[in-house]
Amino acid sequence: MGGICDIGIVGLAVMGQNLALNIARKGFNVAVFNRTASRTQDFVKERVKDETIFPAYEVEEFLSLLAPPRRVMLMVKAGQPVDDFIQLFAPHLSSGDLIMDGGNSYYRDTDRRTKEAEDKGFFYLGVGISGGEYGALHGPSIMPGGHREGYLMVKDILEKAAAQAEDGPCCTYLGPGSAGHFVKMVHNGIEYAFMQSIAECYHLLREVEELPAPSIGQIFEEWNKSEDLNSYLVEITAQVLQYIDPDTGKPLVDLILDQAEQKGTGKWASQVALDLGIPTPTINQSVIARNLSSFKEERKRISALFPREEAEKSDALSLHLEKALFLSELAAFCEGFHMLQEASSEFSYNLNLSEVARIWKGGCILQARLLNRIQEALKEEPGLLFTSPLFLEKVKDCLPSLRQACTLALRGGIPVPALSASLSYFDSWKREWLPANLTQAQRDFFGAHTYRRIDREGVFHTIWQKEEKE
Ligand code: 6PG
Repeated sequence: MGGICDIGIVGLAVMGQNLALNIARKGFNVAVFNRTASRTQDFVKERVKDETIFPAYEVEEFLSLLAPPRRVMLMVKAGQPVDDFIQLFAPHLSSGDLIMDGGNSYYRDTDRRTKEAEDKGFFYLGVGISGGEYGALHGPSIMPGGHREGYLMVKDILEKAAAQAEDGPCCTYLGPGSAGHFVKMVHNGIEYAFMQSIAECYHLLREVEELPAPSIGQIFEEWNKSEDLNSYLVEITAQVLQYIDPDTGKPLVDLILDQAEQKGTGKWASQVALDLGIPTPTINQSVIARNLSSFKEERKRISALFPREEAEKSDALSLHLEKALFLSELAAFCEGFHMLQEASSEFSYNLNLSEVARIWKGGCILQARLLNRIQEALKEEPGLLFTSPLFLEKVKDCLPSLRQACTLALRGGIPVPALSASLSYFDSWKREWLPANLTQAQRDFFGAHTYRRIDREGVFHTIWQKEEKE
């Protein structure tokens, strides 16, 4: 005997509530369960109207509401709670049932859980969901990976719940195991980089041009109209900078403490990129910038020890920054897709990178008009995006502006870790020769690590120092 619900959602924090409402509004019957019963009661009382949402207060009751094979989506905090809920449900599930994890889980945990589910005869999907509370309710970008059979059981539900771009739902099966959560982790790494680059442009306009926040907001509003920069993050930046605090009449952003927090997905992206040996400097520097921002007291103390450099005025600063921000955003996407390409072969995800770009076009934090071109470029040649004919001339055109913005910042003592990391990223790729020969010589000097020569085949070691006389 099975119930009538197409899917069950576990965890009724805002993301879980909104996803349940979204799916129910697409015509599905949704069972909901939360460990604390009062939250389920409040949800049903306060937010459920005509939606076909069925609350349950016990595990057995919840599972009995689901039509077989049962489909359960966990919307709980990443980490131990995911394992706890799987353990809670597993004894009551049957072979062929599906468990999905819609949180920001670490990809290695997802690999382990996929294997454990497989051993028990269940299907498992690690589902990256981006778009915050709004996206969950109105259509997020959904990045599922795991058992393909499991995906087919929920394809219709997920694709209808996802944001709809002009060329289809922002949801597709990405690959086996942790493919979905890996893609979401990289999404978040790029998110950090784009956010940090935006923050640095704001910093420069504030310090060099001495513009008030609402005026900077208007610049972002203009940028958001352009083909290159139109994006969710630029759009919300424009709104944030123009928001006036009703209590004080001041721009609210000026009243917010300058310490950025993080839940860890950007840090994971950096760590994994280092493990994979893929250069992701813009992403890495953005994680570091958040870390450094947290040392507020120390920064306060140290700032008093140094004289302040005078920033030079520049007439065309906002024009340079517009191009600089575009290049930094592009660098972050290049780094992210490079990482995905490597992970795809390393972990046998068999990712379709163009499809990844496609499902990021709507619903998610990274949605941007630029993704149309990225999607096209990735159809042609996977690899370093900026070398695609769709970007190469553009990069050449924007590089002097990125260089100009960084020069101005460096001279004025204004930190631009993400913008300057992007600049060095492009500058490094376009150098045939880099000074790594010296690094190799040093390694050989102190550790006999050997080196290769450009004029002969083979591996060499040199006694660099004349032996000291005893
Ligand atoms: C999304 C976001 C989201 C993220 C939070 C907080 O795609 O909707 O990436 O999943 O977890 O925005 O992230 P941080 O606390 O790490 O900034």
